[in-house]
Amino acid sequence: MSPFDPVAEYKAKTKKSAEWSEHARKFLPGGVTGNVKFYGPYPVYLKKAKGSHVWDLDGNEYIDYMLCFGPLILGHGDARVNAAIRKQMESDGSLIFGAPHEGEAKMAERLSRIFPCGERVRFTNSGLEATLHALRVARGFKQKGKVAKFEGHYHGCYDQALISLTPSADVRGPDSAPCSIGSSFGTSQDTLEDTLVLPFNDIQSTEKLLKKHKDELAAVIMEPVQRGFVPAKPDFIKAVREVTRDLGIVLIFDEVMSGFRMEKFGGAQNTYGVDPDMTCLGKIIGGGLPSGAFLGKQEIMSVIDPITRPKDTRVFHGGTFNGHPTVLAAGNATLDVLQLAETYPYLNKISDKLRNGFNDVLARSGFDAKAVGPGSTFNVLFAKKGSKVDLDDIRDYRHAASCDSALRAQFDYGLMARGMHFHPDKPFYTCTAHSEKDVDVTLKAAEEVLKRMKA
Ligand SMILES: Cc1ncc(COP(=O)(O)O)c(C=O)c1O
Repeated sequence: MSPFDPVAEYKAKTKKSAEWSEHARKFLPGGVTGNVKFYGPYPVYLKKAKGSHVWDLDGNEYIDYMLCFGPLILGHGDARVNAAIRKQMESDGSLIFGAPHEGEAKMAERLSRIFPCGERVRFTNSGLEATLHALRVARGFKQKGKVAKFEGHYHGCYDQALISLTPSADVRGPDSAPCSIGSSFGTSQDTLEDTLVLPFNDIQSTEKLLKKHKDELAAVIMEPVQRGFVPAKPDFIKAVREVTRDLGIVLIFDEVMSGFRMEKFGGAQNTYGVDPDMTCLGKIIGGGLPSGAFLGKQEIMSVIDPITRPKDTRVFHGGTFNGHPTVLAAGNATLDVLQLAETYPYLNKISDKLRNGFNDVLARSGFDAKAVGPGSTFNVLFAKKGSKVDLDDIRDYRHAASCDSALRAQFDYGLMARGMHFHPDKPFYTCTAHSEKDVDVTLKAAEEVLKRMKA
């Protein structure tokens, strides 16, 4: 048998994507519109989608586990979501009024019933905007300039949210007190200084740092499930809630990723039974259209209220497309389906079948590797040979980053060459359109890839 070269297999199958990538690079840096969409040697360029399947420029069919990095929890082109979009356009006679409309407060009411802190809601066009505005509201409310975030947590692609997203081992500082490192070239010194970085799932160190900086800190923002696959330990998230409450720091849960992707309807906060002061949402609440929202307690959100708050002490919030009627229609239709009694049982069943199935084939393969993560998002990690990392206890960015990305890359390109679509080195997402057959086909391919990797 010839040596296993999954990238060569991938390239042999995706010649039209290679050609289009060359062309696209003449107009788009890297041939993509966001760096996260790029992977080497070039990404697959898609042409068509239906349910859980997508087709690329070469006509290859794939089972899609990328699902637009999470929003498509019902799969591509769900008929109920499409019908809601058409109905909105026809009945409103416009895509967008640009003026307030009933749909906004109706969706806000719906979200505030799901997320207890959401006494007031504002819509945005992305998860990035949701966290950006939430942090600004918290700073305005507390009249303090500094915020804290956890190392390895992603909150969107602006300067402060990118602090210490993927810091390398040589610069990131001690485990108990991570340094503030810009993950984008061009980050200002002020942003670095205004952002305290905390170690996830380490309550002693987190408490110590928060107490030390309490007088400067407006907010702590966190992903309750880091990057969709490293859940906060229940004691940890509860302790963060308590200490931020005691110290008078606004606690923001960024549920752009974890929202509606746990085992039941709602956010990770509903699963943990922990109420933050503010919540950020995105992805699923737009049903596949650009969306976001930030929710908070009335007292906090009152800083943007144009009725009660004098202009000179008001926090600015705007956005031409906020509360877009089509987006709200798609989001509402998605939430309607998610609330049906049968939805989560099926989604959990299919997610478990894939996650457990991966774990079976990984265990049989002889690699120290595991599919980790709750609900309908998980990641596949390979331990480095001789490493001490315990894949059953991945607690933070440093643990996850210590895994073997070269082995993972072989697994990824091997699977992509066999008809699975996802972003290499990123989590897998499942949806209600995935069938048992999709999972069986995927597991068979995974088994073959792992055998070739071992040979
Ligand atoms: C937890 C989290 N917050 C914020 C964002 C940013 O959302 P958007 O890409 O819609 O700007 C993301 C995107 O992946 C995310 O996962």
